[in-house]
Amino acid sequence: MAELAIIVLAAGEGTRMKSDTPKVLHELAGLPLLGHVLSTAHNLPATQVVTVLRHQIDRITDYVHSHFPRTVIAEQDEVPGTGRAVEIGLEALPAGFAGDVLILSGDVPLLDVNSLQNLMQIHEAADNAGTLLSTELADPTGYGRIVRARQDFVGIVEHRDASAAELQINEINAGVYLFKAQPLREALAKVGQSNAQGEKYLTDVAKILLEGGAKVAAHPIGDSWLVAGVNDRAQLAAMAIELNGRLVRAWQLAGVSIQDPSSTWIDVSVQLGRDAEIRPGTQLKGTTRVGERAVVGPDSTLLDVEVGAGAEVVRTHADSARIGAGAQVGPFSYLRPGAEIGVDAKVGAFVEVKNSKIGDRSKVPHLSYVGDATIGTDSNIGAGTIFANYDGQKKARTEVGSAVRTGSANVFVAPVKIGDGAYTAAGTVVRKDVAPGDLALNPKPQQSIAGWVLERRPGSSSATAAQKQLEKE
Ligand code: UD1
Ligand code: CA
Repeated sequence: MAELAIIVLAAGEGTRMKSDTPKVLHELAGLPLLGHVLSTAHNLPATQVVTVLRHQIDRITDYVHSHFPRTVIAEQDEVPGTGRAVEIGLEALPAGFAGDVLILSGDVPLLDVNSLQNLMQIHEAADNAGTLLSTELADPTGYGRIVRARQDFVGIVEHRDASAAELQINEINAGVYLFKAQPLREALAKVGQSNAQGEKYLTDVAKILLEGGAKVAAHPIGDSWLVAGVNDRAQLAAMAIELNGRLVRAWQLAGVSIQDPSSTWIDVSVQLGRDAEIRPGTQLKGTTRVGERAVVGPDSTLLDVEVGAGAEVVRTHADSARIGAGAQVGPFSYLRPGAEIGVDAKVGAFVEVKNSKIGDRSKVPHLSYVGDATIGTDSNIGAGTIFANYDGQKKARTEVGSAVRTGSANVFVAPVKIGDGAYTAAGTVVRKDVAPGDLALNPKPQQSIAGWVLERRPGSSSATAAQKQLEKE
C-alpha cells in the first residue's frame, strides 16, 4: 500500500449551528464531532494527520492539542472553499510527499476505520488517481450530486449549481476522498472560484482529473449514516439517536441487559461488564465503567464513575466517583467528585457524598451530608448526620474510625477524629476528638417547663388535648 497522509477539513464557519461553540466541537455521545474524526484518523496507518482550521482556530487547536497531540494544525487563509482547505493541508505535509491523501470532513463523525480501509483497498486495486465515497439519500437536499454517464462517474455538481435534472439525483458526494498526492496538487492548481458560492470547490478536482485522462471513481456505501454530515442541531440530535441505538445494541450483543434503549444514553468511551443491567432513564457518560453483574438505574446519571462488580446504583446522580463491588447506592443519592464508596458499603436515600472515602461495609443510610471525610470499615453513620466541613473560611476533614456507631442527627465539626469502636449519642454536636471505645454526648439534660402549653396557649387544640390526657391520668 502507498504511504498515507490524512487531511481533516474543519475550517468552515458552521453557520447553520447558530452557536458560539464551533460546529466541530459540538458533542455526539460524549465526544466532539472532530474527536470522532480524529480518533478514526489516528487509528489508520498514516504518516501524518493534518487538520485545517480557520474559524475559532484557537479553541479548536486547544482541543486538538490536548486530545490528539500528534495532529498537525494548518491554518486556512481568506480564500474560501474545501479545495483551498485541501491545498493548505497539502502544504503541511512533508516536502515532496508522494503517497495517498485521505480527505475527511470534521463534520462527518460516524465514518469508521473499516469503511476507510475498504476505500483504500478499492483505490489501490483499481490504481485510481482518486476514489471517493458516495451514498444514496431519499432526501439529498444540500449535498453535492454524483453525476454518472451510464455507470461511469463523470463528476460532482453542488446542490446550488445543479440543474433541475441533476437535482433529481439521489446519489450524493459524502465528502470523503482518497487521492494520489501529485495529481491532486496539479488539479487543485486549476480549480477556480466561478460557482454559486464563489468558493474553490474540492469537488471540481474530480472533473479536472477525468478530463486529464486520470481514473476517478465514486464508491457507493450502503449505510448512509456512516457518511452523514452534521450541519445543524436537528441533524446532530438525529445522529445522536442513531449512534446511541448502535451503541446500545452493541452492548446488548456483548451481554449487557438494557431494558429501554430509547431512554438509555451511552457515551462512546463507556465500558460495561458482562451481565450488567442498565435500567430505563440512565445516562452513562465519559469514562464511566460498570462492572460485571452491576445494576444501574432507573433514572441515574453517571459521569466518569467506576461501578464495581455486583454493585447496585438506583436513582443516583454521580460525578467522578468510585463505587466498590457489591455496594448499594440510592435511591436519591448524590455522589460528587472524590466520593469513594467501599466494597459492600451503603449510601442511602438523600445522602450527598463529596471528596470522602466510605470504608468497606460501612453505611450512611439516610438523609446525610458527608463532605471531606474518611470513614473506616464496618461503621454506621446515624440518620440525618452532617459532616460540617466548612467554617465559613476554610474546609477541614473529619476522620471516623472502624466499627464506629454514631447516633442520629449528629454534626461533626471538622477537623475532628472519632476513634475505632466509639459511639456517639443521638443529637451530638461533635467538636472534640472521641477516643476509641468512648461514648460522646453533649451532656445538657432535657428540660420540661411544666404546664407551659396550658398557660401560654390557652384554648388551642394542643392545650385541649393536653388537658384531656392529664384528666385521664
Ligand atoms: C461538501 C461538498 C459536497 C458534499 C458535502 C458532504 C464541496 C464543495 N462540497 O459540501 O459535495 O456533498 O460536503 O458533506 O466540497 N471547510 C473548510 N474550509 C472551507 C470550507 C469548508 O475546511 O473553506 C470544511 C468544513 O469545516 C467542513 C467540510 O469542509 O468540515 C465541508 O464543508 P461544508 O461547508 O460543510 O460543505 P458542504 O456544503 O456540506
Ligand atoms: Ca457539511
